[in-house]
Amino acid sequence: MLKKIFIKTFGCQMNEYDSNRIFDIVKEIGFEKTDKYEDANCYLLNTCHIRDKAKEKVYHEIGRVKKIFRSKEKPIVIVAGCVAQAENQEMLKREPYIDIVIGPQSYHKINEAILKHSKDKKKKEETEFDTISKFNYLNKIKNKDSKVSSFLTIQEGCDKFCHFCVVPYTRGPEYSRPFQQIINEAKELGEAGAKEIILLGQNVNAYTFKDENTEFRLADLLLELDGFDQLERIRYTTSHPKDMTKDLINVYKKSSKLMPLVHLPVQSGSNKILKLMNRKHTIEEYLEVYENLKSINPKIEFSSDFIIGYPEEDEEDFKKTMELIDKVGFINSYSFIFSPRPGTVAAELQLVDSKKSKERLEIIQKKLFENQIEKNKSLESKILNVLVENRMKDGVKLFGRTEYMTPVIFDGHIDCIGKIVQVQITSSNQNTLFGKLKESFKKKVA
Ligand code: SAM
Ligand code: SF4
Ligand code: F3S
Repeated sequence: MLKKIFIKTFGCQMNEYDSNRIFDIVKEIGFEKTDKYEDANCYLLNTCHIRDKAKEKVYHEIGRVKKIFRSKEKPIVIVAGCVAQAENQEMLKREPYIDIVIGPQSYHKINEAILKHSKDKKKKEETEFDTISKFNYLNKIKNKDSKVSSFLTIQEGCDKFCHFCVVPYTRGPEYSRPFQQIINEAKELGEAGAKEIILLGQNVNAYTFKDENTEFRLADLLLELDGFDQLERIRYTTSHPKDMTKDLINVYKKSSKLMPLVHLPVQSGSNKILKLMNRKHTIEEYLEVYENLKSINPKIEFSSDFIIGYPEEDEEDFKKTMELIDKVGFINSYSFIFSPRPGTVAAELQLVDSKKSKERLEIIQKKLFENQIEKNKSLESKILNVLVENRMKDGVKLFGRTEYMTPVIFDGHIDCIGKIVQVQITSSNQNTLFGKLKESFKKKVA
């Protein structure tokens, strides 16, 4: 019988990478992917625990699956990802419909778990931090992602323990993959058609791998990838300000493929709050990184993450965050109200009044969105280099991204996919640019 797996992914880009790799693994035991719930005989939910009612969202989704399969044969139900890691056995107890719980550092054991479960029908839980074995296993299985822009995880876990964050508990200690493993995987992706590689890690710029004679850092990886003919663009995310070291900053002088957008989460503009969060850097240090990068290339732009209403944030702290936004002019950012995470230091702290937090979030988002709208408006009538990723669902327009990751939707021929083309921007909104292919490019790519 043909086995079909339905994979649903919540959370960050690392979870997307993991879901792709989980599919590469289960293919080995004969699974095909389906995008229809009802066709699946295996349902996998890759979960995120970063904020809000993450856990409840998972049980709600499982409830949905239960309903869909009420009058059909039950699929094997697997919960993977960060909620699986945090909740482990609890999930199996609370929701008997779940068969297998598997953490982000043990998903290489998924085939074994599925095959065992198919035989003995017993519940399984795999949540050890087995990161080295996981990547050794993945190294033997080809990354079959064939997207124009592909993710490649190079580093996992975190040792920084920001007081608000669950990641060190769900992803485990910091680990950097061997340099050569990454290069091999990048080659596979290039051969499969990737034109852009986005290197991933919860602390991607903390990447350090030592073999007998040499220490490799993120800077070395970026420069190595810069020499790959098949690649046009390279990006990395997410960085911690403390790890924006000189060698990494200097790559911006040397690399022609490293894109000029730096995603550098700052969380707050106030040193008092940064200290309470255990962020391990000051605003002055953050601005020094900003100045250093700008002095290398003034066209480098920044995006960031902000947490609003962290315990003890007062009006003065919030004002400082607003001032930082004015200074840096982030072109794209994420902002969230602080969400207490079980097991973290900040979980038990006195919350800022929720009405106040909501007001502040509205104010900050208004400012961030206005910056974005203004930036996009200023690009109308300009001609931009766009890496074309795919065709839109309407089957007519094409989708691509600028060097700054801004989505571009435009009229163009299917031959443009996988190429960098010039697009004349004609209109825009907060998130997207719209345009048409430049005349001379129509002739070249068609
Ligand atoms: N490692 C990255 C760093 O150091 O900035 C961030 C990783 S985290 C997956 C992504 C973002 O989620 C964070 O930058 C932070 O803004 C947000 N976040 C994490 N924990 C949060 C919490 N408890 N409440 C609200 N936002 C949170
Ligand atoms: Fe979480 Fe990032 Fe802090 Fe690590 S450095 S604890 S991943 S916010
Ligand atoms: Fe979420 Fe885990 Fe990523 S908590 S943000 S899926 S590292």
